[in-house]
Amino acid sequence: MKALVLSGGSGTRLRPLTHTRSKHLIPLANRPILHHVLDKIGESGLKDVVVVLGANGKEIQESIGDGSEWGINFSYVEQKQPLGLAHAVKTARPLLKDEPFVMFLGDNILPEGILPYLRYFESETPDALVLLHPVNNPSAYGIALIKDHKVQQLLEKPQSPPSNLALIGVYFFSPKIHQAIDRIKPSPRGELEITDAIQDLLEQGGRIEAQTIQGPWFDTGTPEDLLDANQMFLDHLIPINLNEINPSTTINGPVTLGEGSIIEDSCIVGPVIIGSNCRIIRSYVGPYTALGNKVHLEDSGVERSIILDQCQIIKVPRLIQSILGTSTQLREIERLPTGLKVQSADHTKMWL
Ligand code: DAU
Repeated sequence: MKALVLSGGSGTRLRPLTHTRSKHLIPLANRPILHHVLDKIGESGLKDVVVVLGANGKEIQESIGDGSEWGINFSYVEQKQPLGLAHAVKTARPLLKDEPFVMFLGDNILPEGILPYLRYFESETPDALVLLHPVNNPSAYGIALIKDHKVQQLLEKPQSPPSNLALIGVYFFSPKIHQAIDRIKPSPRGELEITDAIQDLLEQGGRIEAQTIQGPWFDTGTPEDLLDANQMFLDHLIPINLNEINPSTTINGPVTLGEGSIIEDSCIVGPVIIGSNCRIIRSYVGPYTALGNKVHLEDSGVERSIILDQCQIIKVPRLIQSILGTSTQLREIERLPTGLKVQSADHTKMWL
């Protein structure tokens, strides 16, 4: 069976981070979201993956490389505009042929993986199998009404949700989904919704089954989701240290330190992952922090944050629950540049 991975879309909820890079490549515990997704596909034994690429397609292809890391054969298809999940399937149809497939949204993290669901789909052969997870804000998701594992109704981001069971970003489909996609019309937000296609399949008499997953699931659509998912990965961190630690530094808890990184006169409280060639001087790095490569931290404190490559944080006493994009510079300013009209303390903060 083939897997279809969607890595297009515009990532508007994660701007400004997604102005310069695909959200699928934002790192969690220093590994791109998409690579975590591919890890689960690799573990399930699937060998053929079709990736739908959007505006940042080249970057995605480069990060996957030749695919040998996962032992997977990749093929790619370009979706010229993000016109919806069902539109992405339509774009990939020539590569999927008339065979069953599993579709993954490239920004959804399902730590337990898909193996039992894959086996169930292959043995029971429903027309579609969807995975569900209870949520607190059902209006933000595709929602399913179910009875005895059979789907009764599906609605995309409903104003009055009939249940709190959200469709998570893993779907198993028979080839019948293609005809359903041909029948549906764009939703009010202008997208061809996969939820509407599955609902159409149901209305045509299709057998749509649902399984509610027990473990955690992360839809990495918002900064809070990213910090939560980063925390989950760091909870499973296997500490690796490739460096000599200066005796003036205290390290507690699991900490992974990349090659060439230097820590002096600092305190690190894990779980923390630090990339390669970082400099951490007279600073504190607290639990659930991921520092990318070449990060420079001096006289500063960071906790529960994701700091991307080449950031500089100088004389910032307390940075918590934050995400800094690549090459961000954050520093105390002793003197404001001449000509900057500062009217209030708040204004200064905005400038920073
Ligand atoms: O995360 C689960 C939710 O994902 C489901 O509950 C919803 O039913 C489903 O519609 C979807 O909702 P989102 O609004 O979160 O979808 P988003 O626009 O974030 O896109 C999900 C993934 O698909 C993301 O990796 C980008 C990719 N994508 C998206 C669109 C719209 C494409 O590759 N092409 C597209 O045209």
